[in-house]
Amino acid sequence: MKVLCIGDIMGEPGRRAVARMVPRLVAKHRIDVVIGNGENVAGGFGITPELAEELFGMGLAAITTGNHAWDKKEILDYFPRERRLLRPANYPEGVPGHGSVVIQTAAGEELGVLQLMGRAYMPALDCPFQVAKRELARMRKRVSAVIVDMHAEATSEKMAMGHYLDGEATAVVGTHTHVQTADEQILPRGTAYLTDIGMTGPLHGVIGIKKDLAIEKFLTGMPRRFEVASGPTVFSAVLLDVDARIGKALSIERIRILD
Ligand code: FE2
Repeated sequence: MKVLCIGDIMGEPGRRAVARMVPRLVAKHRIDVVIGNGENVAGGFGITPELAEELFGMGLAAITTGNHAWDKKEILDYFPRERRLLRPANYPEGVPGHGSVVIQTAAGEELGVLQLMGRAYMPALDCPFQVAKRELARMRKRVSAVIVDMHAEATSEKMAMGHYLDGEATAVVGTHTHVQTADEQILPRGTAYLTDIGMTGPLHGVIGIKKDLAIEKFLTGMPRRFEVASGPTVFSAVLLDVDARIGKALSIERIRILD
């Protein structure tokens, strides 16, 4: 099973890049499942039901989020209704939505997707490590292959999660920093790993935001209303080849296309 995981899709430029690149990549690599992080699709902050539907319409089988999951209030009622839209599984009990989903490919194979969020330089949540073990054990009673989106700031926390789940998760891939790392690897017990997939969105901004606004905020220390940058885009993703029967990753390949 070929799985394409797209990194944080940033605003309209990011959505347009997904619309352009996904059909090409699916045809070229015979991809079975596409998933992506959609917490920045609504003008850089959050996601709306309409934009989630737009991404599903572009072929995404599941959408992960993170700390920006709740930025748009209209998404709150949508989360419990749409199983394919995930928020981190380590939010406390009672928070709307789901942290994992099992999706089916056109060929009838199943793939689990589990979303977690780190705690280093991030909002305080339940322990992602304990939640990951518990959720993976539960999911793997039904499905062998599970991809984990570890939405986190700190490289070390993501790498620790990769090794903690090595041999249990099919892949642990990171999102949130918007900058792709070059450390893709198969860990010793068979889990595919990449610290951060990187952003799909404007290339010449500060992690997708208009550079002048971001620079001004750093210069003054004052709050600034951010807007998504424009211009050339970068499409960032990772391609996994997965043996869905045994849940093992066969290969991991980084994708970064300037467009
Ligand atoms: Fe984030």
